[in-house]
Amino acid sequence: MAASAADQMLQRIKARDNLPAHVAIIMDGNGRWAGKRGRPRTAGHREGVKAVKRTVEAAIEVGVRALTLYAFSTENWRRPRIEVAAIMHLLYETTKREMREMFENNICLTASGDLDGLSLRQRTILRKAMAMTKDNSGLVLNLALNYSGRAEILQAVKRIAADVAGRKMKLDDITETTFAGYLQTNGLPDPDLLIRTSGEYRLSNFLLWQTSYTELYITDTLWPDFGRAEFFAALEDYQKRERRFGAVPKGGQKKKK
Ligand code: IPE
Ligand code: IPE
Ligand code: MG
Repeated sequence: MAASAADQMLQRIKARDNLPAHVAIIMDGNGRWAGKRGRPRTAGHREGVKAVKRTVEAAIEVGVRALTLYAFSTENWRRPRIEVAAIMHLLYETTKREMREMFENNICLTASGDLDGLSLRQRTILRKAMAMTKDNSGLVLNLALNYSGRAEILQAVKRIAADVAGRKMKLDDITETTFAGYLQTNGLPDPDLLIRTSGEYRLSNFLLWQTSYTELYITDTLWPDFGRAEFFAALEDYQKRERRFGAVPKGGQKKKK
């Protein structure tokens, strides 16, 4: 049987030596997906969970080390109460239902964001899933939940200020490396690649510190339509880029790939 286009991409990706270690995704477009079908926004969120599953499976298949998914921003509380409640319920249900499978698939579940701002029920199930999978050595699945990039930076600044005032840290010890240690990304390297679905060209308060040199991939695909093939397409696109970090191109002239 002939290999599918996605399978061929997978082979090509694996043959290259520059797989992104950490991919972050702004999963956007659930509401529009539902709207196009004349269905309530919550139907889009429910469908979005299936796309999460497909993407996590593809990340494992290709061997990405870490995947950070933007699931709920601190600004998302501004949505109608009924939508917020539906998203929270979905998060709860999905964590509860998938926890065992995550464990069996060697996934290590972590979270970024202010978990204390979630309901007790929500916090409890998440902490249980994180504790259950904490020693797993496979994909790190990091959920950005009740997350704000600015709030994250501010809490780091406050904790550093407290440590300096309490003489646990000296002013000169504040470096990019030590600062990053105060952030909520649990020691993950900065994302190499950031994917945003549904064609919006903004960061929406996501990983502001960590994305300073991240490669961006924006697609018009709505999140519920996202899956294995498009994830691989994003990885291939990334692999063809030249990351310069402010320096000049390697070997002088940029070569066409
Ligand atoms: C992303 O989809 C999901 C969350 C923000 C929780 P949206 O709900 O933002 O979908 P659009 O942008 O309205 O289409
Ligand atoms: C970003 O999407 C947040 C998540 C995907 C969780 P939004 O839909 O909230 O972003 P804006 O409002 O279009 O910037
Ligand atoms: Mg949106």
